[in-house]
Amino acid sequence: MGNIEKIFDSNDARSLSHRRLPKLIYDFIEGATGREISSKGNLTAFDDVKLLPRALVDVSERNLTTSFMGNNYSQPFGIAPMGMCNLTYPNADILMAKAAKSRSFPHGLAAATSTGLAEVHAAGGDNSWFQLYVFVGTEKALELSQKAQSIGYKTLILTVDVPQTARRMRELRNGFQVPFNMGLSQFIDLAIHPFWSLRTLATGIPKPVLFQNEDEKFDRTAHRMGANWDFLNQLRSIWKGKIIVKGILSVEDAKRIKKLGIDGVWVSNHGGRQLDGAPAPITVLPLIRNALGKDYPIAFDSGIRDGSDIVKALASGADFTFLGRPILHALAGAGSAGLERILSIFSEDINVVMAQIGVKGIYEIDNSVLARSQE
Ligand SMILES: Cc1cc2nc3c(=O)[nH]c(=O)nc-3n(C[C@H](O)[C@H](O)[C@H](O)COP(=O)(O)O)c2cc1C
Repeated sequence: MGNIEKIFDSNDARSLSHRRLPKLIYDFIEGATGREISSKGNLTAFDDVKLLPRALVDVSERNLTTSFMGNNYSQPFGIAPMGMCNLTYPNADILMAKAAKSRSFPHGLAAATSTGLAEVHAAGGDNSWFQLYVFVGTEKALELSQKAQSIGYKTLILTVDVPQTARRMRELRNGFQVPFNMGLSQFIDLAIHPFWSLRTLATGIPKPVLFQNEDEKFDRTAHRMGANWDFLNQLRSIWKGKIIVKGILSVEDAKRIKKLGIDGVWVSNHGGRQLDGAPAPITVLPLIRNALGKDYPIAFDSGIRDGSDIVKALASGADFTFLGRPILHALAGAGSAGLERILSIFSEDINVVMAQIGVKGIYEIDNSVLARSQE
């Protein structure tokens, strides 16, 4: 696949994905809620954080290994849970799970997956974490988590920033729906992207496989309000492994989650897909770290586009980070090779940044590497 040589960063992956995907699918990935202020703000907020170059440090030996919630990983970033990934490339869920296992990092399998839980777990082992939404009532959610547990999933991500799916203008304008709604404009969009369309037809149009019964039909726009504090307590009592709560921006919420005996919080604004006007997570991360103390596990996502963003998030209080859109764009642009390429690029990037700021290992990265630490 010749495309892969054209990817040097996440922007290149996005450009390729733009060319390859029907507008409907590209906009599903890239779009956000409202005027997309939060999604753009996530990127500019990273631009505002500056790292401090350090001189004369022997950085000839560097490594990216780290640990998070009791597990060792070869790199400080994983893949965030994303629904309907197979729309970008056939078998995307499995490709991500395999990459997670072979490279040793975690990836989230979304409740809105179009690949079965057992299949993904067989490919990813303990590196595959299961992400839960409370779509069709708490009973179904508890049943799903029990199913995931019996298959062998050890880590559960409970996403709590989607009490209701937000209004995403690109999706509304394009008539994007899951399962697909085929009108004339969608038909034309697919027809002018024959590679994607034929490939997707040949492998089967992805469907949300965990919600296939008539009485629990998948409706992306349905409210997900069952995920309240009582439910979190209930989940804690039935889930034997680790639980991390994703979509936290409030210091108060983070403190309450820690108090409930949950294993970690995941600071995120869902890539700006939920509340336009929500703060960029990188700006609230230091406050949340401060409130939770230095040892409580904190994951981070939203707006990471290169290795220096990852270093900035680690320096601002995260223990581990997750990539979202860049992964889907790399898959859409160049399939499995694109995925491997973008993962290598991020690692290489972190490695080079570490040399510039004079650190040899991930554990050395704290707020002293930020330029503002010397103000
Ligand atoms: C296409 C797409 C689908 C997503 N689906 C889910 C989901 O099902 N569950 C979830 O917790 N987060 C979901 N997210 C949010 C991601 O987990 C992550 O928070 C977000 O992508 C981070 O922002 P970034 O991609 O701009 O870095 C989705 C994101 C995208 C782009």
